[in-house]
Amino acid sequence: MLQTFRSPISSLLDARVHGHALPAGLYISEEAFAADLDVFFRRHWICIGLECDVPEAGDATVVDIGKSSLIILRDDDGELRVVHNVCRHRGSRLLDGGPTVISKLVCPYHQWTYDLSGELAHAPHMGADFDKSCKSLKPVAFKSIGGLIYACLSDDPPKDIAHLETVMEKRLAPYDIRNAKVAHQTDVIENGNWKLTIENNRECYHCSANHPELCVSFVDLDFGFDPESLSPEDREQAEQHQALYAERIQAWEADGHPSAAVEQLVDCETNFRTQRLIIAGAGESQTPDATAASSKLLGTMTRKDLGDTHLWGHNSWKHFMGDHAVVSIITPLSPDRTLVRTKWLVHKDAVEGVDYDLQKLTDVWLATTDQDSELVARSHAGVEDPAYVPGPYSPFSETNLDKFATWYIDRMRAHGY
Ligand code: FES
Ligand SMILES: [Fe+2]
Repeated sequence: MLQTFRSPISSLLDARVHGHALPAGLYISEEAFAADLDVFFRRHWICIGLECDVPEAGDATVVDIGKSSLIILRDDDGELRVVHNVCRHRGSRLLDGGPTVISKLVCPYHQWTYDLSGELAHAPHMGADFDKSCKSLKPVAFKSIGGLIYACLSDDPPKDIAHLETVMEKRLAPYDIRNAKVAHQTDVIENGNWKLTIENNRECYHCSANHPELCVSFVDLDFGFDPESLSPEDREQAEQHQALYAERIQAWEADGHPSAAVEQLVDCETNFRTQRLIIAGAGESQTPDATAASSKLLGTMTRKDLGDTHLWGHNSWKHFMGDHAVVSIITPLSPDRTLVRTKWLVHKDAVEGVDYDLQKLTDVWLATTDQDSELVARSHAGVEDPAYVPGPYSPFSETNLDKFATWYIDRMRAHGY
C-alpha cells in the first residue's frame, strides 16, 4: 500500500482545532521555527524599520532576520535603499548591527568598495578584465508605506500589500512619519515564541488585570466582550463606548480623517488591521494621564483629539496619535526568544525638555512592553510543559487570535507545509 509522507509540521497543522490555540509543537519545535522564518519572514512582507531611522544621506542601519542581514540606507541623492549585507566577493558582512553614517560601503575583509547606490566602485587586485558592473550589492524588494519600511526577501512578493499601501498612505499622510524623529528606542527580548508575542498583542482580554498604565488611555473592551461577564455598570459603559464609535468615526471622517476599521486578516497573504480608536480619559494620547506628551504635534496635525490609529501586521504593531507614535517590530530569534524593538516618534523639530518630556512620552509603553514580555514568557513556559493542551479562544475577546491562527495554518499550507 502506498504511504503518503506526512511531515511532522504537516501533522501539527492538521492537529489544530478551530477556535483553539495552536498545538505546542508549532510554538516550540525547531522545525516549526525554521518553517516560520521561511514562510512568514522571507516569503511575506515584513516591517523592518522606518524611513526616519535613516533621515540623512549616508545614514545606514542593519536589520537581522534569521540568517539574513539587511542594510537600510539613504543614498547620496536622499533615496532610500535596502540591500543585502553580503559582500559580492566572498560574502563577508559589510556592516555590523546598529546605526552608522557612511560615505561608501567598504568591506572590512578585502576592501571591495560599494557606492551608496549599491554599485561596486572599487575592487583591488581583480585584474583589468574584471567586470564590476555585475557585482552590485543585491537589492531587497521594499516599499515605504507612509514612512514605514516593508521588505520581502522572496523573488515573488505578495501583491496584496497594495491594499495596505492604499489604506495607510492616506491615513498616515497627516502624521508625516517619513520625516518624524525617533525620540527613543528599546530592545526587549521576550522569552517566548513570536506567535505568542503576536497573539498577546491581538487581544486586550489580559489588559485590565495586567496593564494599569495603558488602561488609562486604552479601552480594553474595544476588541470584544461578553456582556454577561461584565458588571451592569461596566456593561453599560462598554455599550455606551461602542455607540460612541459610530458617532466619532462619522465626525472624524467628515473632517477628512479616515477612521473606520479596515482589516485583511484571513484569506490573504498580507495580514493587517487598522482602525482609529478612541482614547479614554483626557482623550489625547497614550500617556500616564492621557494628555499629549509633545506640544509639537506630528506632521501637519492640528488636533490632539484624533484618537489612536492602530495598525497590526504579522510582525509589528503601531499606534499613531496626534502628538507621537509608537512602533513595535518583532524579530524571531529562536523558538523561545523574540526581539521586540519599540520606537517612539515625535515631530522632527520637537526638542526634548522643551516640547516633550521623555518620561511622559515613554512611560506607558515601557511599562506595557515589560508587562507583556512577562506574560509571553509565562505563556511559553506553559506551552512547553507536556501537560499543555491547546485551549479555547474567547469567542468575544479573542476572535482576532482565531483569525491569526487560521491565517497562519493557511499560509503554511500555501507554502507546501
Ligand atoms: S569578502 Fe568582501 S572584499 Fe572580500
Ligand atoms: Fe498586553
